[in-house]
Parts: sequence; C-alpha cells; structure tokens
Amino acid sequence: MPGSVLGVDFGTSNTAVGLMRDGMPTLLPVEGAETTLPTAVFFDFDARAVRYGRAANQELFDGSYGRYMRALKSILGTSLMHEKRGLMGQRLTFVDIIGHFLRHLKTQAEAQTGQTFDRAVSGRPVHFHSGDPTRDAKAQEDLRACYAAAGFKDVRFVPEPVAAARANAAVLGSDALGLIVDIGGGTSDFTLFTGDGSNVDILSTGGIRLGGTDFDRLVSLDHVMPQLGKGTDVRHSFGDATHLAPNAVFADLATWAKIPFLYTKDTLRQAQDLARHAVEPAKLTRLAQAIEEELGHDLAFAVEAAKIAANTKDSQVDMGMFEKGLTVPLTTAALAASLADQGTRLTEEAYATITRAGHTTDNVTHLIFVGGSSLMSVVETAMTALCPNAHLHRGAALTAIGDGLALATADPF
Ligand SMILES: Nc1ncnc2c1ncn2[C@@H]1O[C@H](COP(=O)(O)OP(=O)(O)OP(=O)(O)O)[C@@H](O)[C@H]1O
Ligand SMILES: [Mg+2]
Repeated sequence: MPGSVLGVDFGTSNTAVGLMRDGMPTLLPVEGAETTLPTAVFFDFDARAVRYGRAANQELFDGSYGRYMRALKSILGTSLMHEKRGLMGQRLTFVDIIGHFLRHLKTQAEAQTGQTFDRAVSGRPVHFHSGDPTRDAKAQEDLRACYAAAGFKDVRFVPEPVAAARANAAVLGSDALGLIVDIGGGTSDFTLFTGDGSNVDILSTGGIRLGGTDFDRLVSLDHVMPQLGKGTDVRHSFGDATHLAPNAVFADLATWAKIPFLYTKDTLRQAQDLARHAVEPAKLTRLAQAIEEELGHDLAFAVEAAKIAANTKDSQVDMGMFEKGLTVPLTTAALAASLADQGTRLTEEAYATITRAGHTTDNVTHLIFVGGSSLMSVVETAMTALCPNAHLHRGAALTAIGDGLALATADPF
C-alpha cells in the first residue's frame, strides 16, 4: 500500500507539518501540543544525542556542551551544504543534518496519525537567492536531497505564497484583489491573486532573500557589534600606525547561519591577537570572549528579542552574557533607521509583483500579512503606503502556509 503525503512548511526559523483531516487543513502537533517546531538542531556531545526545536534551544540556553544550529535553510544552494564536518564521531553534511531534522518531523507525524508518509509536498520561497537563478535551482535540489535523506521517496514543491493564498481564499470577495505579503525568517514573498471564496487565481508572484534573520543581522551590525570592536582601531605590531578591525568576523557573528563556523582555534587566535593590539581593548576582548565561550547564538537571541520589543517601545539588547548588567539601547527610531533600506527593497519587490500582472497599487483591495516578520513596523509602514486602498489582514500570520500545504496534499501528486 502506498504511503500518505505530508505537507511540510520548512521555514528558516519555524517548521510545521500538516494534512487534510475531515476535509479541513490540519497542522499536526510536533513538540508536545505545539504545531510549530523551531528550525533548530542541537548535537549534545555529552548525551551523544540530537535535539530538535524548543528542546535544542533549551540546551543552548542551559549551556550544554555541544553544537547548536539555526537558520539552516539559509545554507541551501551554497557550497557549505556539501562540506563534511565531524560531529559526534560521524562525518556529516548539511544535507544529512537537515535530513535528520525532516526525519524527526516525519516520525512525529507518523506517531500522531498512525500513517506512513512516503511523499512530501514542501513549500519553497519564490526565490531562495535573489537574482541568482543557478544558485536558486541548486537550493531546491539541495532541499530535495534533504527530503531523500529523511526517507521520503518523492517531494513536490509549491511556492510558499501560493500556499498562503490558497489558505486565505475565503478572505476575498468577488471583485477583490489580494496581495499576500509573507515575510519570514529568511525570505520575503509576494503573491497577487483574485478568488471567489474557495478557489484562488494566482496573477503573479515575486520574492527576495530578505527576512527576520537579516533584520537581526542589520540591528546587530549597527548596534551590538560596535560593542565588540567593529569599527575600532587596531595598532600595527611595529610603529604607531593603526587600521580598522577587519569586518568579516563581525558579519559572520551577526548572521545566524554562520555562527557555528566561527568556533575554531584559528578564529579565536585571530580575535585574541586583535584584542592584544586594540586601541580600545575592552571591546575586542569581548569578541575573543564571544568565540571562546561560544556566545554568538545567545547574543543573536538577545538581538532578536530586542528587535521585536523595539517595534512597540524603546528597548535594549541584553548583553549580560558578556558582563553582568551590560545592555545597549535600541530605540524604536534606531530600529526604523537600521531597517529603512529594507523597507525600500520590500516596496520595490511588491510594486514589481503588482505591476507585472497589469495592475496598479491602488487596485489592491486586501493586504494579507503572513510570516513572523510581517509583524515588523517597517513592513506595515512600507506596505500600507504602497497600497493605500487595501484592508489589512493578519489573522492567519503563522499558520497560512502550513494550511495551504496541507490543502495541497489532497492534489494529485
Ligand atoms: N512579534 C514579532 N515581531 C516581529 N518579528 C517577529 C515577531 N515574531 C516573530 N518574528 C520574526 O519572524 C521570523 C520568523 O517568522 P516565520 O516563522 O514566519 O519564518 P519562517 O517561516 O521560519 O521563515 P521563511 O519562511 O523565511 O523560511 C523571525 O525572524 C522572528 O524574529
Ligand atoms: Mg515561512
């Protein structure tokens, strides 16, 4: 007997799985009663076990000995994907690691339903990589390989905003024109559609590689990394000349997916060297501390929390992992300034999506916000200015794509 089809919304930050039950799209509980699983993996070196989701995050917060990874989807299509690295006595690639993560979800779904899932309907962003079709195609092939590693015999891909439009069919009445604005952890996708309450007619799609993890990176680079010595001077070993501390290490430390690669003896030695020659040693000493004590992810979580808080009121980034009581301010205005250029990029891509279908921005009657980062003020400010006549819906922000993929499991494979 052939197995069943599982809908999988594999996200940069969160993943959900679903299927049709009694004619309704249904997301399955995957961690206790929760129907989303943070896309995070922890290799626990002491217990020699792999943890997923909230359990992985908890190990990180508890300071367990091991290796933590988040935002793995960002690596699809890059050369890092197929490099083998030693983890708990095995030589693993990111195909294996994402494969483990997807297999974990498959196992959870099978335990929940008693069914066997041998095929997947997977979401995919409109573009994994903006403006690079070769890399984009490579990313989908990488993800296909991950599904195979997880034990799925076949996978069909559906663009994430198309799934979201299906799940939102009921929002539109006749003569309505909807724009799905899906801003997740890694990508921003737009879909222009019409509908009759149950079916949707997709008019155009567009997308760029920009999401909440990029917002975290930009906030970190502007406000946090300067506290670790970014933009400060380092003396030459001989003479009085100075130069700026090199930027690359700060860029990596501010990027969720890159953090695990910084924890090497070489990088630590370079950071200690910079600290020794620093004009402001206290700051670059924190860089060395971040690498030695593996504080990168803790810092990224603190930045993410401040980014969310600063949407509504002036906030601060808690840097207590370095020194008790250390914080750096992040005001609402400073957050808006750090993300202003990204608001422009979102506006340009949404505009291109609308006009490509022969419509004007004034025609859009409904803006449907999907994805965690659609809750950012920069997104609402940009989109409501672009489509001034549209009603704003954000009711199904975190479930729409999973529901749409669950609906798609009922289509002929
Ligand atoms: N209240 C909030 N305000 C602003 N941003 C938020 C809020 N809650 C979550 N986020 C951000 O939303 C992002 C995660 O959103 P979501 O779960 O939709 O992404 P994803 O589906 O995993 O990613 P993608 O679809 O891009 O692969 C994170 O970057 C998180 O910081
Ligand atoms: Mg998503």
